[in-house]
Formats: sequence, structure tokens, C-alpha cells
Amino acid sequence: MLNFDFYNPTQILFGKGRIADLNKVVPADAKVLVLYGGGSIKQNGVFDQVMAALGSRSVVEFTGIEPNPTYETLMGAVDLIKKENIDFLLAVGGGSVIDGTKFVAAAACFEGDDPWAILEKRGSNITKALPFGSVLTLPATGSEMNSGSVVTRKSIKAKMAFSSRHCFPQFSVLDPTTTFTLPVRQIGNGVVDAYAHVMEQYMTYPVNSPVQDRFAEGLLRTLIEEGPKALANPEDYDTRANIMWCATMALNGVISTGVPQDWATHMVGHELTALHGLDHAQTLAIVLPSMLRVRKESKRAKLLQYAERVWDLRDGDENSRIDAAIARTQEFFESVGVKTRLGDYSLNAGNIDPILSALENHRMVALGENRDVTLDVSRKVLELSL
Ligand code: NZQ
Ligand code: ZN
Repeated sequence: MLNFDFYNPTQILFGKGRIADLNKVVPADAKVLVLYGGGSIKQNGVFDQVMAALGSRSVVEFTGIEPNPTYETLMGAVDLIKKENIDFLLAVGGGSVIDGTKFVAAAACFEGDDPWAILEKRGSNITKALPFGSVLTLPATGSEMNSGSVVTRKSIKAKMAFSSRHCFPQFSVLDPTTTFTLPVRQIGNGVVDAYAHVMEQYMTYPVNSPVQDRFAEGLLRTLIEEGPKALANPEDYDTRANIMWCATMALNGVISTGVPQDWATHMVGHELTALHGLDHAQTLAIVLPSMLRVRKESKRAKLLQYAERVWDLRDGDENSRIDAAIARTQEFFESVGVKTRLGDYSLNAGNIDPILSALENHRMVALGENRDVTLDVSRKVLELSL
């Protein structure tokens, strides 16, 4: 096992009715900015529950954080914070709203000229951030219990990530009933994103880390079992609860302790969203199966372990077990409604060169656990995904 530091200060308030407990975790004298997206929380009653819990606190709203939140929109919240002397932020929504709030929290305290520098330095230049919490309504990203964020700058078509230990939520409320109203597309997206997060931290090479491996395999098997149930029976509380906790555990730092990590699929996927507007999980469903096929040799030992322990594939020679496990993975993504080919999203061979140029511009030229995912490898992956 590799050396590691594990730090995660986020308090989780999990279960039915927990939004009311905001009253206990938001400071009583706070001037709160509630940040949210396009309005789903107004339709499903979450907004009303949040406002009731905040009681007599002074509250200002910032609405309109879009999926794949943009720097252009978020800077509006930074201005509002300064104008209104806000001292606590509450994100209510999915990963985009929480990620956007992390950027706003850091940007409001940023001392340089332009907070975009936070993305250019991947967060290493953050020295403080406003305190914030979240109410999660879409299990997928793990943003509710990690310190990462992904922000898009529309004007330069760049989607970039940062992280900082100053950007953990103080708390996150996870009430599975808030997810009953998710559109089918977002249920599938969430399952695929969480699955891909586990794979980025698990599917590398063995370092004798049975605790992390078995945690990861347990999360993958749970997603395989529960994902289709959520689609078939959207108001099943237990299913939603299991998926919600799975998605949080998939990216809260636990399974990445002491193991190598990949993340090449995510980096290639971010360029697909920046250039073509695909949902985050759609990009992962396209890239991940091909990434595994192209890098089969360097991942051989883990692919065999995955085939056996996640997909129960024990018969046949090594290559056929690996091929079957990757095929099963791709079929699983399709089974939860997320298409896995570039062509399914009207993209073709002509779209590959601009994606590679964007990767080069963003210095994404040596990705993966062995830094061997060069632009040539990314090209092979994209060609295999046509
Ligand atoms: O905007 P509203 O009206 O709220 O609607 C949203 C949005 O249209 C809707 N929605 C959310 N909860 C709902 C709901 N609709 C009905 N009922 C509910 N309960 O769902 C749509 C998508 O929301 P979004 O927040 O964009 O989705 P997701 O949670 O998948 O977040 C995606 C973003 O997170 C980033 C992605 O790159 C992308 O920008 N990621 C963040 C990570 C992190 N912080 O660690 C890691 C991930 O790999 C990922 O990159
Ligand atoms: Zn992701």
C-alpha cells in the first residue's frame, strides 16, 4: 500500500426529513446566501423545506447555476456576496450547484486580480474560503463530501478542475426522498458517474490494498444491483438511499487512500463536455470502455480481479474474461439509459482532432496512473468509441 494522508471534515446528515436539521448546523447569526440551479428545487418542495429550516436567519438567493457551472455565472454570485456582506453559503442541488458554490466560496476570498487563476493553478493558490454547506438532490459526483470542483469558462471553451482543503462542505444533508423527482436521464447519469469514480481509483494496478479493493468492488456491485431498480421503481426509498450513499462513498477519499489513481477517462470526458455540451456522465460512458480496452495490458491484473469479483467471470482464458468484463460494463451503462458511442451523440471522426488539441492546450498529455496516456493513446480511445 502507498503512503497516504486522509482528511475529510464534512459532517453528513443522512435520511428522510433531515433538511429540518439545517437549523442546527447553519450558524444562527449567519447571513446566508442560498445558491441553486434552474428551479427543480422550487418544484419538488426542497426549497420550501430549506427556507422553513433557516427560519428567521437573514437569507439572500442566487439562482441560475447551470449544469456544468460557468465562471461567467458564478462571478455574479461573488459580486452579490460582496454587496450583501454574506458570511455563509448554502448550496441546494446537484454536483453543479455544489461545485459552483465551492468556486464562489474561494473566489469571494481570493486576493489576486482574477479568480480564474484558481482553475489555472488547480486550487493550489486558495488560502481561504467562505464556510458553506450543501443539500444534495442528485447523487452522482461526490461533491457533497469532497473538496473538488469543476468549472467551465464559456468564453474559452475550457472545463477545468480544482481542489483545496479549504473547499470541503462543513456539512451536507442527504435526504434520499429529494431524489424521487429526478428525470430518468439524471438517474442514469448519476449511476454511471459514481461507477466511473470507483473505476478511476480501483482499475489501475495492484498494490496489495485489499481493504480499498473490497470497498470499491462493494460499491460497484451495489450500483449494478440498485441502479436498474431506481429506474424501474423511482419512489423506492431504500434503493434511493443505497444509491445516494454509494455515490458519496465513491468519491469522498476513502477508496483512494494508499492506491494509484487514473482519471484519464474524466480528463478526456471534460473536453467532450466543453466542446460539445454532453452531460458529464455521457462522456464517461463513451470513454471508459474504450479506455479499458486500449490500456488492457497495463491494467491486466486488476481487470482480471474485476472480472472475477464484480462480474463473477471465472471461466475461459484471461483475455476472454477481460473482454467480457469490459463488455458487461458497457452494457450496464446502456442498461441505465446512458449511450456509449460518440455516434449516439452525433459526433464522428471529424470531431477527434479538436478534442486532442484541447487536451494538448490543457496539458493533458501524460494522463493515467502510469502517465502513459499520451495524445496518441487518447486518439486510439476516441477512435474506438466512434
Ligand atoms: O438546475 P436544476 O433545476 O436544479 O436541475 C438539475 C439539472 O438540470 C437537475 N436536478 C438536480 N436534482 C434534481 C434535479 N431535477 C429534478 N429533481 C431533482 N432532485 O439535474 C440536472 C443536472 O444537475 P447537475 O448538478 O449538473 O448534475 P450532476 O450532479 O451530475 O453534476 C455534474 C457536474 O459535476 C461535475 C461535472 O463535471 C459536472 O459539471 N463533477 C464534479 C465532481 C466533484 N466535485 O468531485 C466530480 C465529477 O467527476 C464531476 O466532474
Ligand atoms: Zn465524474
